Amino acid sequence: MTAPIQHYLQFADLTADDYAYLFERAALIKRKFKSYEKHHTLNDRTLAMIFEKASTRTRVSFEAGMYQMGGSVVHLTTEGSQLGRSEPIEDTARVISRMTDIVMIRTFEQGRIERFAEFSRVPVINGLTNEYHPCQILADIFTYIEHRGSIQGKTVAWIGDGNNMANTWAQAAALLGFQLRVSTPRGYEVDAELATANGAPSRTAWENFADPRKACEGADLVTTDVWTSMGYEAENEARKQAFANWRVDTGMMLAARPDALFMHCLPAHRGEEVTAEVIDGPQSVVWDEAENRLHVQKALMEYLLLGRL
Ligand code: CP
Ligand code: NVA
Repeated sequence: MTAPIQHYLQFADLTADDYAYLFERAALIKRKFKSYEKHHTLNDRTLAMIFEKASTRTRVSFEAGMYQMGGSVVHLTTEGSQLGRSEPIEDTARVISRMTDIVMIRTFEQGRIERFAEFSRVPVINGLTNEYHPCQILADIFTYIEHRGSIQGKTVAWIGDGNNMANTWAQAAALLGFQLRVSTPRGYEVDAELATANGAPSRTAWENFADPRKACEGADLVTTDVWTSMGYEAENEARKQAFANWRVDTGMMLAARPDALFMHCLPAHRGEEVTAEVIDGPQSVVWDEAENRLHVQKALMEYLLLGRL
């Protein structure tokens, strides 16, 4: 019997022990990248990337990462492929996974990537769905560790929409043992079921705060995201009104610990979810966060294809 394929569809798909390995491996891969040392562990492997939504960071980090490891990449979009002409996702999965070694998908419903994975012969990575963005949280926690050491026992304040990023932070908090405080306007809360899905410890590792400034009090990390995620554009105006008091500003950063970091997965809208002062200020590590997508995803692809080295 062949071993089951290890996919990465949500943060809870890996264990705390796997994450400890991945963070160490990503640090090694990053050091080698910075000193122009070759790291060709995925020679002759092919990554297929399927984008059903726009992307800058995810596209560049996966594509550059695969080439840097000696592999190659195929890039597909909905419109440019038969997916846009109603070819079933199951058939697409069967075909692509016979021709490539690993697949990254950015799409809408989590159910869609799950169906792809069910029919895939190769590992599938979630490059963002409506429900989750695990590669981003992998990069964010790696970034936290680089700047401040272990995240265990620390306090993270999530301000804004209870979206794919927030759900993934909640899964990570339960798995890696830190406290998540969530402050969202009413009606935009984190979905408790999504946040603890797939075998993640059922203990709720997050606490809701009506007042965003209270959520930031004493936090080690303050983080936010756009008020309107991709796919929800029709709600833009209503969201701008609902979220007006959930803009991360200097007052919120002052409520946090003096050495607190600020993170945002990007793209950001200065003056909406965060002020320019904060995102371009000394506590912000958003550029490290973006760069680290490259290093952690190289470690992740290597792990899914080759295991621990
Ligand atoms: N943070 C992130 O996933 O960025 P992109 O949408 O540019 O890929
Ligand atoms: N929550 C955002 C993240 C973008 C990287 C979205 O889904 O559009």
